[in-house]
Amino acid sequence: MVVSLVVTAFWAMLPAYVPNNAAVLAGGGRPIDGGRMMGGRRLLGDGKTWRGTAAGTLAGTLLAIVLNALVPTVSSTTGFDLPVFPLAAGFGLSLGAMLGDIGASFLKRRSGRERGAAFPGLDQLDFVVGALVLAFVAAPGWFSATFTLPVLGVVLVMTPILHVGTNVGAYLLGLKNEPW
Ligand code: CTP
Ligand code: MG
Repeated sequence: MVVSLVVTAFWAMLPAYVPNNAAVLAGGGRPIDGGRMMGGRRLLGDGKTWRGTAAGTLAGTLLAIVLNALVPTVSSTTGFDLPVFPLAAGFGLSLGAMLGDIGASFLKRRSGRERGAAFPGLDQLDFVVGALVLAFVAAPGWFSATFTLPVLGVVLVMTPILHVGTNVGAYLLGLKNEPW
């Protein structure tokens, strides 16, 4: 059933969706690259900070723990088959989302894009790829049981739509400088 597939995919990805938004709220302070340059440009830029990365990873991991506490009730009342996150999986999804976004900033700087510049495609999927790769590394058994091919398909279609939506929202609320 499509609805149950979408709900499962959304639930499984929540610990990866929250970190970048938490980083926007908590970011600032020392940049990860410490101001270092590469080829005449910043290695990552001022938009990737230690505080934002730590806050994002923590927020996603804590969310996974909260979701686990809710899952018995939500599953039994809705009948959806929702995943439970081993700690390693929640942490992998969260840290992976942050690392994917940091990797994208690295690629943006190498291709001459300044901080905040859009890179359509990469902006919407960097954190998904990072989250899935790290979740696979951190909890391979859980990953293959949860992210079946249909679920992965839904994730790849649904995430860019949600990403555009939340970023436009954050921009309209004045939380983000650009709507991407
Ligand atoms: N942020 C952070 N640390 C991270 C990711 C994000 O502190 N690892 C904060 C920064 O304040 C950043 C804001 O969240 O400016 C928005 O994140 P993002 O859009 O990813 O960064 P940009 O400033 O657009 O920089 P870039 O072009 O490198 O993506
Ligand atoms: Mg940006």
